[in-house]
Amino acid sequence: MTPNPIAIFDSGLGGLTVLRALQARLPQEDFFYFADTRFLPYGDRPEVFLRERGVLIAEALVRRGAKALVIACNTATAAAAEAIRAAIDLPIVALEPGVKPAVGLTRSGVIGVLATTRTLSSERFHRLVGTHAQTRRVIAQPCPGLAEAIEAAGPDSPQVAALLDSFVAPLAAAAADVVVLGCTHYPWVAVAIARRLPAGTILLDTGEAVARQLERLLLAGNLLGGGEGRLTVASSGAPASVATTVERLWGRKLTIEHWEP
Ligand code: DGL
Repeated sequence: MTPNPIAIFDSGLGGLTVLRALQARLPQEDFFYFADTRFLPYGDRPEVFLRERGVLIAEALVRRGAKALVIACNTATAAAAEAIRAAIDLPIVALEPGVKPAVGLTRSGVIGVLATTRTLSSERFHRLVGTHAQTRRVIAQPCPGLAEAIEAAGPDSPQVAALLDSFVAPLAAAAADVVVLGCTHYPWVAVAIARRLPAGTILLDTGEAVARQLERLLLAGNLLGGGEGRLTVASSGAPASVATTVERLWGRKLTIEHWEP
C-alpha cells in the first residue's frame, strides 16, 4: 500500500462501482480497496457482527496509513457507520440508499428501493425514509442472494436473471418511476434492471455524490492530492478467485493482495 491512500471497503466487489466514480473525479489520488469476501454476503449477517467487523476493518485501515475512509457498502453503513465514526479519527464518507434524491425526482410518487435485507431492516433506513419520504410511497424490496450471484455466477448469468425477475417485478407493478440501487453491487446489473422496468424509469446510484462529498472532505482537511493514481486491491478471501471476479466485473486483470485486518 502506498503512503496515505484513500481506503475503501465493501463485503466484496460491489464497492468497485463506487471506486469507479472516485477515480473519475479524483484521478490523482491513491486508493486502497478492501473486499471482505471471506464474509460476503454482509446482507444476511447479524447487525452486531457487522458493527464489530466494520470497526475492526476501519481500525486496521488507519494502522495501514489511510488518510480517509469510504464505506462503500450500504449494509456496513447501516450497521456500523456510527460505531466506526466513534472509533476512528479520519474523514469518513458512508453510503446510504439515495432515498433523498429520489424524493425530488419521482413524479408518480412511488419510489422503489433495491437493497439487502439487513439494510432495509435497519433503524438507519427507517429513519431515512421517515425523514425524507413520508409523503411518498416507498417500496423496499430486499434482494437476498443477488450480491453473491453477481460475484459467483456473473452479472449476465441465468441465476442473476431469475433473481432480478422476482425482485424487480413488484416495483414495476407498483409503478415506481425512480428505483434506488441501495447496494453497491447492483450497478453491475443496472442495464438488466432497467430492461425489466418501463422506459423512462430513473435508476439512482450514489457513486458520483459520494465522490463529490469525498472531495469536499479532503479539501476541508487539506488532504487533497499527493498520490499518483495508484490502486491496490486486497481481499480477505482467496486472491486467485477474487482476481477472476475482478477481471469479469472490472474488465481488467489486477493483482489481489491477501489481507486480514
Ligand atoms: N455491497 C453491499 C451493499 O452495498 C452488500 C452486499 C452484501 O454483502 O450483501 O449493501
